[in-house]
Amino acid sequence: EKGGYEHFMLKEIHEQPESLANAIRGRLDFNLGTSVLSGMGTSARDLSEIQRVVFLGCGTSLHAGLVGEYAFEDLADIHAEVQQAAEFRYRNPIISRSDLVVAISQSGETADTLAAVREANQKGAFVMGLCNVVGSTIARETGRGIYLHAGPEISVASTKAFTCQVAVMLMMALKLGRGRRFSREEGLKLAREIERIPELVERTIQQSDKIEKIAARYAEHEHAFFIGRGYLYPVALEGALKLKEISYIHAEGYHAAELKHGPIALLQKGTPVIALANDIAGKDKTLGNVEECRARGARILGVITEGDKEAAEFMDDFIEVPACHPLVATIPTAVALQLLSYHIARARGCEIDQPRNLAKSVTVE
Ligand code: F6R
Repeated sequence: EKGGYEHFMLKEIHEQPESLANAIRGRLDFNLGTSVLSGMGTSARDLSEIQRVVFLGCGTSLHAGLVGEYAFEDLADIHAEVQQAAEFRYRNPIISRSDLVVAISQSGETADTLAAVREANQKGAFVMGLCNVVGSTIARETGRGIYLHAGPEISVASTKAFTCQVAVMLMMALKLGRGRRFSREEGLKLAREIERIPELVERTIQQSDKIEKIAARYAEHEHAFFIGRGYLYPVALEGALKLKEISYIHAEGYHAAELKHGPIALLQKGTPVIALANDIAGKDKTLGNVEECRARGARILGVITEGDKEAAEFMDDFIEVPACHPLVATIPTAVALQLLSYHIARARGCEIDQPRNLAKSVTVE
């Protein structure tokens, strides 16, 4: 059932080109430069009435929502925010009928996310689900939504669900953006970039052997920092979560600008800093932060855009991901970090598919 792979996690990482192709298939319209997401259950009028989008989720799904927040603001010009589902539920959320609430959950069974859905429904918001498991409780209770079509995710650490969540949110933002500020031409450009995602991920996975060699150099450390900014900030958070849950290395994700406000005090000679320095807006500033870390003796592993010699100069080691639209770049970058975590955990002899203390779906609040 592991299809020849040593772990479900590795199998699921490798399945991503296919999962993403399934998530995208039939959902892009190259005539009108938009996306077709009937599951949103919205008429054009409904869409134009949406004033704000609130994403809800936990863990990896929360990080996907953070990417969604950037995508909706940048592509669709719409106020968007992400909230940890348990926090949303207990803080008297201010929501109205003009709010679109998107509950993100691979399993569709996470108790905190479900409670938040019930709260949002009760307050009259327009609620939809972004679930992977068909017929799951959240999918049923939201009544409308978009399935990821990622296929079953067995490994406790979420991989393909995350990348499919981001891909689906990009398509949602494209659809909303076309109703607001995107021309057909711009819409077409983005649709073509989204269509490339499976291939971009395939090219990233092809570097698994190289990433495994790099991972061996980082497997002995007990602490690691992931930094990024802009679209890559949520990816840094996700990279740190993945590493800590399967390798038990204490890993922290920070906005690159936050380091010098405190965490930099923890850097010592050889402390690993994984810097997401793809060639997108903010790269130069991140490279500046890399220099600050290096000055404290940190060992820097960069994720950079293929062929970016300038960025490579700043790094002790680097992993390259293909050049693409900056929002789309979140996906291959996340895949590179999944492989890094996997290979580090494997080098440390960890369980991987069933990390201690964790369950695949958290059905208690
Ligand atoms: C991390 C992970 C968890 C889940 C979280 C939410 O790899 O798998 O953080 O993302 O428990 O689960 P879902 O998406 O099923 O609601």
